[in-house]
Amino acid sequence: MADVILDHVKKTFGKFTAVADADFHIRSGEFFTLLGPSGCGKTTTLRMIAGFSFPSSGEIRFDDWNVTTLSPDKRDIGMVFQNYALFPHLTIGENVAFGLKTRKVPKDEQKRRVAAALEKVHLGGYENRKVQEISGGQQQRVALARALVIEPTILLLDEPLSNLDAKLRDDTRSEIKRLQREMGITTIYVTHDQAEAMAVSDRILIMKNGVTQQLGTPYEVYYRPENRFVAEFIGKHTVLPAVIERAEGELCTVRLQEGSRLTGFKKHAASGVTYKEGETLLVALRPECIEPAAGREDNLLRGQVIHAEFTGMSANYLLDVAGTVLKATFVNHMPDPKSIGQSYGVHVPRERVYFLKGEA
Ligand SMILES: Nc1ncnc2c1ncn2[C@@H]1O[C@H](COP(=O)(O)OP(=O)(O)OP(=O)(O)O)[C@@H](O)[C@H]1O
Ligand SMILES: [Mg+2]
Repeated sequence: MADVILDHVKKTFGKFTAVADADFHIRSGEFFTLLGPSGCGKTTTLRMIAGFSFPSSGEIRFDDWNVTTLSPDKRDIGMVFQNYALFPHLTIGENVAFGLKTRKVPKDEQKRRVAAALEKVHLGGYENRKVQEISGGQQQRVALARALVIEPTILLLDEPLSNLDAKLRDDTRSEIKRLQREMGITTIYVTHDQAEAMAVSDRILIMKNGVTQQLGTPYEVYYRPENRFVAEFIGKHTVLPAVIERAEGELCTVRLQEGSRLTGFKKHAASGVTYKEGETLLVALRPECIEPAAGREDNLLRGQVIHAEFTGMSANYLLDVAGTVLKATFVNHMPDPKSIGQSYGVHVPRERVYFLKGEA
């Protein structure tokens, strides 16, 4: 087990900055996820931790050990690459054994450990198959076995489930989490899927255009997003601009652009939000925080239904509220298919209103 420290790490390609200022401390044994949309710098960050590329500036340490410019084979890491990177001319067994061979592990022990690693990813007995003879999802699991077999102190996984079907994805996800817990490996996981990140991680680092947006537990990034990007990316918040009408005591009442008013608690806000009457801020509302109005007149929003769907567990609505699309999810609710185009009122409980800083 080892801590992984990125100390003001920057990576540029010519004039382009792929990673601006990665500065965080991953704790020993932690399941840590880098999350963000395509191109935000996740793979670039992981490759620097692995040693396949070096930072333009800053330092990377495993505990007190400065590994910034050390080659990958000297770092005791296991890595699953985004494109698996299996050796096509080797068998599955030889692929998995690769790291053991370079570490000069005796032949019989290699054999035993390869068999056990393949067993762990549900590919027991596949040793003699060729890479071309197995599916993409199976190749992805071979890549995982190859990373695990060396029992690394640090495990780096770049979208390791991207090519699996929904069922296998869920199974493999639980399996990775179980192995990580059992073996106590510091794990750095890359994904652009926020639900996947929420499900497996101790903490999540959210990135956009190479810049860290927020670092926190799944609970923190979901319930206390620090900015609009995190709010929309993680909690599927609808973000509406508003003007502060009253800010007294612990409450704040704002007026939305279409004229309706919402009251919320000042403390339910991102850091740095200030309350001054007449100033603008953003109101962020998660779909499941919204309820059918059912006769209520306070904290009421009215919009036109533009979409209604029933998923079994919930009914999802899209409402056009003065040009902004508001997402609402009701549990145990049967939508009326005739509701499209109709005016519909929704209520937002005070304790569910969340404030973000107004945009400059
Ligand atoms: N070797 C390189 N030379 C120039 N630009 C690069 C290089 N590698 C990555 N980039 C750029 O850096 C940015 C970040 O790339 P990176 O692969 O880290 O993204 P990512 O977050 O892993 O995306 P994805 O989810 O699509 O895998 C991208 O704009 C990419 O085009
Ligand atoms: Mg990538």
